[in-house]
Amino acid sequence: MENDVKEILISQDEIIAKVKELGQQISKDYSEDQELIVVGILKGAIIFLSDLVREINLPIALDFMAVSSYGSSTESSGAVRILKDLERDVENKHVLIVEDIVDTGLTLKYLLDNLHARKPASVKTCTLLDKPSRRLVDVTVNYNGFSIPDKFVVGYGLDYGETYRNLPYIAVLKPETYQ
Ligand code: IMP
Ligand code: MG
Repeated sequence: MENDVKEILISQDEIIAKVKELGQQISKDYSEDQELIVVGILKGAIIFLSDLVREINLPIALDFMAVSSYGSSTESSGAVRILKDLERDVENKHVLIVEDIVDTGLTLKYLLDNLHARKPASVKTCTLLDKPSRRLVDVTVNYNGFSIPDKFVVGYGLDYGETYRNLPYIAVLKPETYQ
């Protein structure tokens, strides 16, 4: 698996430091008496989310959504579909969406619209990675780990055809891997 890596874009140490920073900021921005639901977007966000929530010093609940995304190619279809919905009602609760990466923004835009319709007290967004140059729709990212150039990346939850999610860093693959 590591033989397929061309370049490590963000190291494990850089990720650990950034996740700690984000967790501390989130812990400051919410208070103990706010009901905060951290919503992880499956599957890409799970590694980031599991590290992030352990840096959040607040009582939180976890829930998950799965939406259709890339399949095995590297280009977004633009179509978003809910594959798995939340288990609990979020009305009057504070929602923090945790994503692996915001690329075109179409997925996050869909999620924001969808969750806003459920009348939560607030909705904020947190992503490990942001590719601002690829944005097609305007979305607010409240917490961002790293802004990266327009390169297809894998690792720390992000996949290419379901592989490479367990790499402990963010990497670009060798061109011959994308066949
Ligand atoms: P968006 O709707 O175009 O913003 O895409 C968001 C989703 O596309 C992410 O949750 C990822 O699943 C996937 N994605 C976008 N860029 C990458 C990448 O560089 N590597 C792996 N997955 C990506
Ligand atoms: Mg994803």
